[in-house]
Parts: sequence; structure tokens; C-alpha cells
Amino acid sequence: MDAKALKIEAARAALGYVESGMRLGIGTGSTAEEFVRLLAEKVAGGMQIIGVPTSERTAALCRELSVPLSTLDETPELDLTIDGADEIDPELTLVKGGGGALLREKIVAAASTRMVVIADQTKLVDTLGRFPLPIEVNPFGLKATEIAIAKAADKLGLSGPLVLRKSAGETFVTDGGHFIIDASFGRIPDTRALSDALHAIPGVVEHGLFLGLATVAVIAGSDGVRTVHP
Ligand code: 5RP
Repeated sequence: MDAKALKIEAARAALGYVESGMRLGIGTGSTAEEFVRLLAEKVAGGMQIIGVPTSERTAALCRELSVPLSTLDETPELDLTIDGADEIDPELTLVKGGGGALLREKIVAAASTRMVVIADQTKLVDTLGRFPLPIEVNPFGLKATEIAIAKAADKLGLSGPLVLRKSAGETFVTDGGHFIIDASFGRIPDTRALSDALHAIPGVVEHGLFLGLATVAVIAGSDGVRTVHP
């Protein structure tokens, strides 16, 4: 099975967690988009849900497919969020933000009773850090924030290139109007320590480490779909 087929299988299995009447956080990325397509079929068949999208990109797809939407202001408590991930470790600590939506994704996941992560098996790792860690930063004082990130990482024995994300040659700007620095620190043995250190930097808006948010991961591989619990 190719990667797209595996994403569809994970998304299909995640539909099993969705019940009519639910308030759903809807993630961002290619796997989450497969989930939206399948969800739209259920909605067309009569399932009643209200979705809160984690990005403008997801909102646009939901509108195109007639998936009913709300905002987190109108619907501040959610039953379930379904979202993809860039990396997943055995405790279900995640790296997210490859699609640039980590801030809204984290706010929506934190407002949800449960978070189901959907992914193909390539996203499972023993230790996070193969995928560069996305760090969302305020454009003001970018250089100073970069220096602060490098110093904080160094104190934890981490180092590596900090790359300002670009898209089509321009600096990538998030839905919240921020920039993203992709930090290639390599293996991150202590995710809590790095999370705390990054949160202590004023210019850091949020980072892509998701700790204690995922309830279950639905992982599709060539031998079928399985679930991973923390
Ligand atoms: C977007 C994300 C995505 O969930 C993550 O990048 C995975 O995307 P994909 O399903 O396309 O591999 O965090 O900010």
C-alpha cells in the first residue's frame, strides 16, 4: 500500500471514534484531509457533528465538502479532536507543525476531551527528533528569539540548525501571523525539559511538542491498522 492509502486507512479507522452529536476538532495536514473527506461522506449520510477546524486550510476543505463548522469561541469545549502528526513516540508525545498549524492544533487539542492521532507507520519513532521541531515565533525580535532558542537548547545538550521556514521563496506566515523556525536538534531525550525551556522564551509563541494531549494513535501499516495507547 502506498502512503496515501495508509493515511486513508488510518482516517477511516478514526471515524469509529466519531459519534453523531459530537463537537469535533479537525486537524490539519494530508492525513487529516483524508479524514475530512470520509467525515463529509458520513455527514452527507446524516451524521450530525459540528467541527472546529485547526487551520484556514482545513476550514476551506470542510466548507467545500459541506462539513458544518463552528469556531472555538462559539464551541469552546470539544468531545474529540482527530489530527495527524509528524512524529509519535511510544508515550504518544508528538511532534506537530509540519503543516504550519501547530498553535491552533494545540489550542484545539487542549480544548478536547480526547485526541485521536492518525498516521501511517512511518511516523512512529522510539525517540522524537528525526523530524525538525517546528517552533512558532513572533516576527518581532526574530534574531533575538533565535539566539535565545539556541542558548536554551545548548543548556539541554541540544544543538543544530535553526531554519526560518519559507514557502514559495517567501517567509512562511502562520494563520496567527507568526513565523516558524524549524529546529534540527536531533534526538530529544527530555521533551518536557525542552518544552519548558522554549515556553520560557518570550518570543516563542508555541512549539510543536505535544505532551500529554494524545489519547490514542491509530496507526496504519502494510499489515493493517493498530492502536497505540500511552
Ligand atoms: C500540521 C501538522 C500535521 O498534522 C503534520 O504535519 C502531519 O501532516 P501529514 O498528515 O501531512 O503528514 O502538524 O501542522
